[in-house]
Amino acid sequence: MHIQEETKEQRAQVHALNRAAFGRADEADLVERLRADGLVRLSLVAVEDDDVVGHILFTELPTRLDGRAVKTVALAPMAVDPRLQRGGVGSALVREGLARLAREGCEAVVVLGHPAFYPRFGFSAQLAAKLASPFAGEAFMALELVDGALRGEAGSVRYPPAFGIDDEA
Ligand SMILES: CC(C)(COP(=O)(O)OP(=O)(O)OC[C@H]1O[C@@H](n2cnc3c(N)ncnc32)[C@H](O)[C@@H]1OP(=O)(O)O)[C@@H](O)C(=O)NCCC(=O)NCCS
Repeated sequence: MHIQEETKEQRAQVHALNRAAFGRADEADLVERLRADGLVRLSLVAVEDDDVVGHILFTELPTRLDGRAVKTVALAPMAVDPRLQRGGVGSALVREGLARLAREGCEAVVVLGHPAFYPRFGFSAQLAAKLASPFAGEAFMALELVDGALRGEAGSVRYPPAFGIDDEA
């Protein structure tokens, strides 16, 4: 298994993978919309024998905290081939994605996801709680790639229309 940036030729496989992993088309279609809207910051695939077995997407997420802009991306969605789940592919994708984003100067990452999965990479619901968003609770988590990037009192994230979220936050 190796991890690489998604190529155009792999897009159909990425769509099928998201569909299979989530058991519905919503997330696969979200990937298409985010691409069409030019919001993709990083799209990585895990490849085994030429097959796409994992995918993770990071997109631009306008974020402000105490009046300043914080260079933030949303992690969404991510998917691993149901036959290979719980084998480390997902973790490898998260780690590689975060490392690349940090190198590129990204300051923070926000995710809405499984509270049992993301904290192991440093994501924290407590850190996200100060960011007004359509979400609340333990599934809404944030991670600093730059120390202190999310230090402050109150802020907000604005999910782009592609997410289909009624964002009045
Ligand atoms: C969540 C997902 C991306 C993790 O990838 P993975 O390769 O299975 O993950 P890893 O093997 O690296 O890590 C395993 C951890 O993932 C989490 N996990 C895996 N499958 C899970 C599931 N169906 N529900 C909740 N958590 C799950 C668990 O916390 C697990 O930890 P544990 O084995 O200590 O219990 C993958 O299971 C998946 O595609 N699930 C379906 C789609 C989905 O839910 N995507 C994420 C949306 S936030």
